[in-house]
Amino acid sequence: MDKIIVEGGHKLNGRVRISGAKNAVLPILAATLLTQGKNEIREAPKVRDVNTMVRLVKELGAEVDHFEGDHVVLDTTSVNNPVAPYDLVSTMRASCLVLGPLLARLGEAKVSLPGGCAIGARPIDLHIKGLEALGAKIRLEEGYVYGTAKKLKGVHHTFDLVTVTGTMNVMMAAALAEGETVLCNAAQEPEVKYLADVLNQSGAKIKGAGTDTIVIQGVTSLKPFDCRILPDRIEAATYMIAAAITDGDVEVLNCVPGHMEPIIDKLRQSGVTVETGENSVRVKGNGKLSPVDFTTEPYPGFATDVQAQFMTLMTLAKGQSKITETVFENRFMHVAELKRMGADISIEGNTATVNGVDHLSGAPVMATDLRASACLVLAGLVAERDTVVSRVYHIDRGYQDMEKKLSQLGAAIRRVK
Ligand code: EPZ
Repeated sequence: MDKIIVEGGHKLNGRVRISGAKNAVLPILAATLLTQGKNEIREAPKVRDVNTMVRLVKELGAEVDHFEGDHVVLDTTSVNNPVAPYDLVSTMRASCLVLGPLLARLGEAKVSLPGGCAIGARPIDLHIKGLEALGAKIRLEEGYVYGTAKKLKGVHHTFDLVTVTGTMNVMMAAALAEGETVLCNAAQEPEVKYLADVLNQSGAKIKGAGTDTIVIQGVTSLKPFDCRILPDRIEAATYMIAAAITDGDVEVLNCVPGHMEPIIDKLRQSGVTVETGENSVRVKGNGKLSPVDFTTEPYPGFATDVQAQFMTLMTLAKGQSKITETVFENRFMHVAELKRMGADISIEGNTATVNGVDHLSGAPVMATDLRASACLVLAGLVAERDTVVSRVYHIDRGYQDMEKKLSQLGAAIRRVK
């Protein structure tokens, strides 16, 4: 089990280039199942979840023609196996994204139900309801979702809750359904719009992706695609906060400022200077931090995936911040670890109250999910003495070369086996 050791007290300065978005490449890899031929995926982040999803698509019959660095070529001509096995799905919830494409491509699917995870039960009932609305017959047995669909038919469907991968799953299935599908209360995340843009390049007819209403005219087939993965707005926000918390001066390159407006606003409210360029953001500390309240919401609101990182910043602000988490029911697991480092945080329901302290102290800490791990590394950047973060496999799932990128910015950080 690798650990990351961070020595606090080093301001971050310089430039960091953001990688492709994990939450954009995973649905794209699943979407290759909708096509028959060679799909080129460039600037895929080199993270564990990509390896897992490539293994899964291969298990379903695709051929991996190339998988070097950030370039993946998947030939999906011979996709013929509808079974996504437990051992793969259980390590990564996003595997459920193959459900819609398998039903559309093969007319059947047997996908293990993803387990819950640390941040919540995270069921996929809304994925299933959407696919049933398209005419799929779905039953749950022995921990698997069994689905069959002679021919998916377009439908008018409203999601009970905003669900990112649920919207993606149903949108992918609808792309090859007969007739028109209208999805209401759809997720508006940039990764949803990006997926629709790539599918449209392949001959799909999808309008409105990125808004809460998506209209899809089904087509009979989709051509293989060649795409460059959207930059990761959550990774970018993480490095912006790293600059702020160390009172440094960092330019974050290859990002989309327009995808991070709530984060940029809140950073400015906390007293940090943020300058935005076409595809870069520069963050400079100003010596002190003011407290800021925020509530996480589906896009375009404040991203839940940045909540833990921003909370870490607020542990050192001069005053009290109130942070409300509305997307997941249990996404404060990082609070106990931050308190062990000297933070003053109390939780009431889904609101955490953070009273700023003068400093954090290094400690051995461990995380329970990807973003909680990132927030503990951020805390280590400013804590006195060393912080040892264990279970770093969480970080490896979604952050490419985190220690390398932070070291290049001046952090004293290293990984030990
Ligand atoms: C996506 O997860 C992201 N993952 C998550 O990022 C992100 O936190 C989340 O969206 C919210 O933005 C990927 O894109 C691979 P949801 P997803 O369906 O789609 C409930 C990270 O750190 N719900 O939008 O699984 C659910 O329990 C990860 O990169 C149902 O009840 O999230 C949650 O409370 C973590 N039934 C809420 O909706 C369903 O069928 C939002 O979940 C589906 C969801």
